[in-house]
Amino acid sequence: MPVATVHPSGEAIYLDPDETVLSGLYKAGFAYAVGCRRGGCAVCKVDCLRSRFDYDHPIADSVLAAGERTDGTCLTCRAVPRGDITIELRDEDLRLINPLLRQINEKARQRAKSVSNGTESKEQ
Ligand code: FES
Repeated sequence: MPVATVHPSGEAIYLDPDETVLSGLYKAGFAYAVGCRRGGCAVCKVDCLRSRFDYDHPIADSVLAAGERTDGTCLTCRAVPRGDITIELRDEDLRLINPLLRQINEKARQRAKSVSNGTESKEQ
């Protein structure tokens, strides 16, 4: 279960398998500038500082130039991490818009961590 960490705040977001970065962040109660959410406008680009991701659909060259495919540019609405990932937003901060969703996401992240460490509690 991948975790997306947002640099430099350190906010850690738990993602479901095969979930895009953008979907995970919004599901966890956060927002930042997005446009089409379909890989067509390039508004959701961030910098990937650590790890690897794949795109769940082909991305047009007009949205992601050849150099951006290898320099860590991440189109978050289509990027699916293949492990824990660290990203840095461009020219803005992550905004918390729903604290309850953040709380639910944090509990899911802690539970997944406990399961992977073999220290899962019987409490629910
Ligand atoms: S929101 Fe348009 S490309 Fe991601």
